[in-house]
Amino acid sequence: MNHGFETLAIHAGQDPEARTGAVIPPIYQTSTYAQDAVGAPRLGYEYSRSGNPTRDALQECLAALEGGPVGLAFASGLAAEDTLLRTVCAPGDHVVIPDDAYGGTYRLFAKVAERWGLAYTPAKVSDPDAVRAAIRPGVTKVVWVETPTNPLLGIADIATLAAVAHDAGALLVVDNTFASPYLQQPIALGADVVVHSTTKYIGGHSDVVGGALVAADAALGEQLRYHQNAMGAVNGPFDAWLTLRGIKTLGVRMDRHCDNAERIAAYLDGHAKVGQVLYPGLPSHPGHEVAAKQMRRFGGMISFRAAGGEDHAVEICNRAKLFVLAESLGGVESLIEHPGRMTHASAAGSPLEVPGDLVRLSVGIETVEDLLADLEQALG
Ligand SMILES: Cc1ncc(COP(=O)(O)O)c(C=O)c1O
Repeated sequence: MNHGFETLAIHAGQDPEARTGAVIPPIYQTSTYAQDAVGAPRLGYEYSRSGNPTRDALQECLAALEGGPVGLAFASGLAAEDTLLRTVCAPGDHVVIPDDAYGGTYRLFAKVAERWGLAYTPAKVSDPDAVRAAIRPGVTKVVWVETPTNPLLGIADIATLAAVAHDAGALLVVDNTFASPYLQQPIALGADVVVHSTTKYIGGHSDVVGGALVAADAALGEQLRYHQNAMGAVNGPFDAWLTLRGIKTLGVRMDRHCDNAERIAAYLDGHAKVGQVLYPGLPSHPGHEVAAKQMRRFGGMISFRAAGGEDHAVEICNRAKLFVLAESLGGVESLIEHPGRMTHASAAGSPLEVPGDLVRLSVGIETVEDLLADLEQALG
């Protein structure tokens, strides 16, 4: 479909259902399908791990939004990551990973994939020379980046890193969870695979856990599809349906997330109780120019250092009322957390350990004056 983003979000993969005209794709809550004869499954559906119409609708929509030929939906973001790694890597291979990344992604590399025989090197993904230096020629199969990174909001230049990875015969994988396809389209910039925790902005309502892969190349997409079935970490029909319901409003939600985050970043920047503010929309952010080049806007995630150190950071999180103290991000409601003790506790003692005075905000779409008032009281 050659349509705009919001049109695709509402219609791609979501034609009215053929039999009844249902405008919304039904939840095909079934594990199996009656076959017309041995070896003749109706419309190709035989078992829901292998294929399910509700998941297919989501997968088609995800592919359309990221601009790739194949989209695949998984049980969680980490399930998508694991399936991708075990499709494109083998024991003995090497990957370059960000030196700032979601703690669970780091744990997957450090505690699971490494034991399986996959070596990894953390590198600063905002510095293409550092990524180039971390590559082991002939052995590195994947350069993995998040941009913006979780939780330090670092920015990687996707087009430059695609060239760096491809020169070395490696794939560039971009975790696009923080930006969402509305704000950033990695495949158009040269990425080979886009990863999502659809739990976040794509679902958008904090009511479902899921993950996605979108491949830039049809053959790689089919290999991933094979592994999705062979490994089995699929997205269930109801979860796919909830995610599709969320996806329809992704564009309008993202614009409001950005509006609110821009106001809040400006308020925090220079506040006496706040140290450095990490938001790629601030001109002082070291990745601002690259972000402006490759993102439509700068997103709803903000991190900042508490002026009073770690205890102050913890107090801010505990005092917040409207900002709910919780892990995760990307929902309509604002969340606050202490990455060092919450989402990134699994990176403690590693090169990915985060500063103790860091507070992370997932800015929701509530009335911004209410959010500002809550932060003012929480900062103390
Ligand atoms: C950037 C990023 N990637 C991947 C994940 C993992 O996704 P999930 O929690 O859906 O497994 C997360 C979760 O917080 C994340 O923030």
